[in-house]
Amino acid sequence: MQSIEIKNNIFWVGAVDWDVRDFHGYSTPDGSTYNAFLLKDEKTVLFDTVKKGFKEDHLKHLSQVIDPEQIDYIVVNHVEMDHTGCLPEIMEIARPEKLICSSQGKKALLAHFHREDWPYEVVKTGDEISTGTKTIKFIETRMLHWPDSMFSYIPEEKLLISQDAFGQHWATGERFNDQVNASELRYQAAKYYANILLPYSSMVERLLSEIQAMGLEFDMIAPDHGLIWRSNAEQVVDWYSEWCKQTPCKKALVVFDSMWRSTEMMAKSVADGLMAEGVSVRVLNLDVSHRADVMTELLDAKAVLLGSSTLNNGMLPRMADVLAYMKGLRPQGKIGAAFGSYGWGGEAVRLLNSAMEEMKIEVVDPGVRVNYVPTDEDLKLCVDLGSKVGKLI
Ligand code: FEO
Repeated sequence: MQSIEIKNNIFWVGAVDWDVRDFHGYSTPDGSTYNAFLLKDEKTVLFDTVKKGFKEDHLKHLSQVIDPEQIDYIVVNHVEMDHTGCLPEIMEIARPEKLICSSQGKKALLAHFHREDWPYEVVKTGDEISTGTKTIKFIETRMLHWPDSMFSYIPEEKLLISQDAFGQHWATGERFNDQVNASELRYQAAKYYANILLPYSSMVERLLSEIQAMGLEFDMIAPDHGLIWRSNAEQVVDWYSEWCKQTPCKKALVVFDSMWRSTEMMAKSVADGLMAEGVSVRVLNLDVSHRADVMTELLDAKAVLLGSSTLNNGMLPRMADVLAYMKGLRPQGKIGAAFGSYGWGGEAVRLLNSAMEEMKIEVVDPGVRVNYVPTDEDLKLCVDLGSKVGKLI
């Protein structure tokens, strides 16, 4: 991997992580990148660093452009440690004049690294600095997705450096969106939105309006993960406008876990009922589907139908895991129903309904419970459940 000039005298100097498979619960089967950018001017500026353990790659890429000791300013757009893990080491080498961050960024940096002696320079939305021939304007993006988060905008180059926003966890040898498969890129960007930004959707909507009101002109968006948006960069902004509204398609998810395949039989019948109503259906068996994939599919679905066998008076543990994860990501405007088999007790369906009510998913049917193995009549009830939900989508 080499550093690469993405704009006039602005370089990608990050690192590619081919191996990471989990980001605190978000599955990353395709790895990720930790993007960092270097602006070479009368003042040399580094935007973000990389995760701990990737210092050699980062320094190699920096050194292909400049001597890292020549960095004048470091901008921390986001304090999370996949972007600041190497900050102490880079600070030691570069000894920059300024460490530029938001006010919340300064607090978070102090809480992470306990370095009162670093040369913090706090900026807020609207502040700008000159690097000689170029300008950096700062835009705070609080809670997108941390309190400290901000964008850096370079108007002379029409470049928006957007930290996590518009990113994707996808390790590639390519650096630009026009070099990869477009539908895979959309999927990766949607997965990222669904698993990281979804709970902050109202703030995303507000930020997009603010950016429009500011009249920022950009033809490139450089996020801290994944591909840089070089061709038709507005497209990802349009996708975010769509996703933040959580406007559903005529689509339903059937998510289930099963002990001895009875709940699986029920899930397939529920799916048949939905399909008979012309609904686009995704069936996700938690034996083989990850919680992050459930959230990705839920992003544009209207309904979620949850199935679990009853185990020890509760639901199966993988379903409990998915619901805890889903609750934190606060999906909006969904409808749902539950089903499941049981031997005795049979609490799972009631617990699934309660979990959905807690998440403000409208439960549109009390659900279907089946003792041990479903009969044809039981499976007909499941088809009817799917059909009922399908008619409401
Ligand atoms: Fe990529 Fe929120 O860190």
